[in-house]
Amino acid sequence: ITTDSIIIGGKTYPKDDATNVTTTILEKTARQLHLIPAHPIATIKDRIASTFPGFKHYDQFSPVVTTKENFDDLCFSDDHPGRSVTDTYYLNNKIMLRTHTSAHQLQTLKESDKLLVTADVYRRDEIDASHYPAFHQMEGAQLFDAKTVVADVQKEIKEALAANPASAGIQTTDTTLITPENPKQDCHDEAAMLATADHLKHSLNLMVRRLFSQEKNLQVRWIDAQFPFTSPSWEMEILYQGKWLEVLGCGVIRQDILNNADKPDKIGWAFGLGLERLAMVLYGIPDIRLFWSQDARFLRQFEPSKIQKFKPFSKYSPCIKDISFWVPEGFHENNFCEVVRDVAGDIAETVEMIDKFTHPKTNRQSVCFRINYRSMDRNVTNNEINEIQEKLRTEVVDRMKVELR
Ligand code: PHE
Repeated sequence: ITTDSIIIGGKTYPKDDATNVTTTILEKTARQLHLIPAHPIATIKDRIASTFPGFKHYDQFSPVVTTKENFDDLCFSDDHPGRSVTDTYYLNNKIMLRTHTSAHQLQTLKESDKLLVTADVYRRDEIDASHYPAFHQMEGAQLFDAKTVVADVQKEIKEALAANPASAGIQTTDTTLITPENPKQDCHDEAAMLATADHLKHSLNLMVRRLFSQEKNLQVRWIDAQFPFTSPSWEMEILYQGKWLEVLGCGVIRQDILNNADKPDKIGWAFGLGLERLAMVLYGIPDIRLFWSQDARFLRQFEPSKIQKFKPFSKYSPCIKDISFWVPEGFHENNFCEVVRDVAGDIAETVEMIDKFTHPKTNRQSVCFRINYRSMDRNVTNNEINEIQEKLRTEVVDRMKVELR
């Protein structure tokens, strides 16, 4: 990053008032965890891909995309909150780091009727054990001829059942689930849409059952959802350690997208799932920062194509620091977390707002954040953390125009 431009992948992008990407984040784009043999992210990727035979798998797309690809092509409204600079990393006002693998839907659907896309994605977010500003998604999509989809799906599901009667979690989409909030698209024939939805749920049920083949009583449920680029839409959740865990979003692809992909006579489904989430569950990895660890004690535990339980190395002691300041209007927690990431790197384990109040006379707002510093691979010293905390105090003032208390 220079004063007026950003250089990445040999290309130069001029900065403007939307630019908010940082060096810390740009460095992550070189890591490509999903392409490292034996890395849990790559192993889960391969496992899932093997449940979609015949699908073309794209896993080399650059994370730098246009706002058109990430949002406009997917029918996001102009004022959709996902576009906000507090949620998304911009190189400039037209170029960004993709926030989801759906950014490649239009392009790949033009080329292929059965496809997977695996990639690193970037979102500005809070800091805790399951959130990291860079993570990995896998997208899947399948198209059918709209005229024959009903018969095609019936035949395929029948064959799958004959091949393995126990494995197929056949799902029939209950028409009462198609509500005004989660509607069929006007342009779709009802029977064609239901067949597509059945095929989607059947495919995804099969995928999780194979992925969790150890778990005898895997429980799966479908929740209504909303995405600008699918309708109807659902989320799949699995019951894990007594809690329902969201693993993916999916739905029937908006016909506008298929029309733009020059496939007006097709109907299809798409899904997008988070690979870290699944890897944390399947490997028992307790903290999302570990995926980025270059520590041999992490990396050498894994073998290609084998899913095995992670053996945690000892937890090092934490160091807790609070910081309080008066905030200007438009203050956003994600902006503060960004400064923490830049100053402390992966030593910041959690950031939590522990107090917030408005001064009764001046109406000014004050916040207090508690930062839990802890390294994954060594004990941190109080001196070292004091230095980081001092630097953080200077940087938040410089970058966020807050007043320390
Ligand atoms: N892109 C969505 C997300 O990141 C997931 C999704 C993909 C939903 C495809 C529907 C269809 O949350």
